[in-house]
Amino acid sequence: MNRRLCLITGASAGIGAEFARQYAALGWNLVLTARRENRLQELAQEIRTKNSVEVTVIAEDLADPAAPARLVAELENRSLAVDALVNNAGYGLPGTFFSTTWSDQAAFLQVLYTAPVELAHRLLPGMAARKYGRIINVASLAGYAAGSAGHTLYASVKAGLIKFSESLNAECEALGHADIHCTALCPGFTWSEFHDVNGTRETTNQMPKWMWMEAAPVVAAGIEAVNRGQPVVVPGLANKALATLTRILPEPLGRAMVRAQSSRYRRME
Ligand SMILES: NC(=O)c1ccc[n+]([C@@H]2O[C@H](COP(=O)([O-])OP(=O)(O)OC[C@H]3O[C@@H](n4cnc5c(N)ncnc54)[C@H](OP(=O)(O)O)[C@@H]3O)[C@@H](O)[C@H]2O)c1
Repeated sequence: MNRRLCLITGASAGIGAEFARQYAALGWNLVLTARRENRLQELAQEIRTKNSVEVTVIAEDLADPAAPARLVAELENRSLAVDALVNNAGYGLPGTFFSTTWSDQAAFLQVLYTAPVELAHRLLPGMAARKYGRIINVASLAGYAAGSAGHTLYASVKAGLIKFSESLNAECEALGHADIHCTALCPGFTWSEFHDVNGTRETTNQMPKWMWMEAAPVVAAGIEAVNRGQPVVVPGLANKALATLTRILPEPLGRAMVRAQSSRYRRME
């Protein structure tokens, strides 16, 4: 059976693992990538036993600037044609612009911005040739909200991914690639390992429960939106309301509100 194939970055945990489960349930073959190969293999095994799809694991560290080209070359070697790309791998870099090293900031930009854009660029020609493509860039509600102190580049890379997705989606339409769509998925607080990894679990747990979503509805919103050709999607009513607020509030008020709350989800030390 000729199944479609989805490449998911950051599939070893959280939102990426949920993308793998949902695309597999839709009958897609998968390529899973992240650094922790054991976690990817466990997930691949779980999925193979539940769904009769093929799951390939290719471990990569996307902080290595050579990783996207190496990954795409490996897919070509294995004759795996990618129909959907989910650029999901990401993390928050704690601390301030003053306290962090340039190599940490450069790796952050590589994983969260350059690698997603490069993977899209390398995989689009094949999608165009086969007249089908789906690209989901996992951005964030932080890409809408005002920037705040700590985790300095996080909001700006996520805002960049939103703009990139809008532009690429518009370009596909303008160039007549009717069945290639690109969507920025903008979650708010989502249960995953994200806040354990960046050391803000204790303080983010103080955020009200209505602000949190499970990964499953977040991922479902992303898949539905990209199939519709919607360039940006904010999952969940509360997140939608917050995104609208950032648009209608006077900017100084928006900044003041973010500043008042941000010490709960941004670490300065
Ligand atoms: N959770 C939230 O509240 C939230 C809100 C808005 C947006 N997001 C975005 O959602 C995406 C997924 O995050 P999550 O919440 O699912 O967090 P998570 O549970 O911590 O998962 C992050 C994934 O990224 C991978 N990753 C991190 N660094 C990597 C690297 N150098 N190379 C390759 N893979 C790497 C991790 O795998 P390895 O460690 O195995 O490499 C892991 O699979 C991120 O882009 C994040 O910014 C999350």
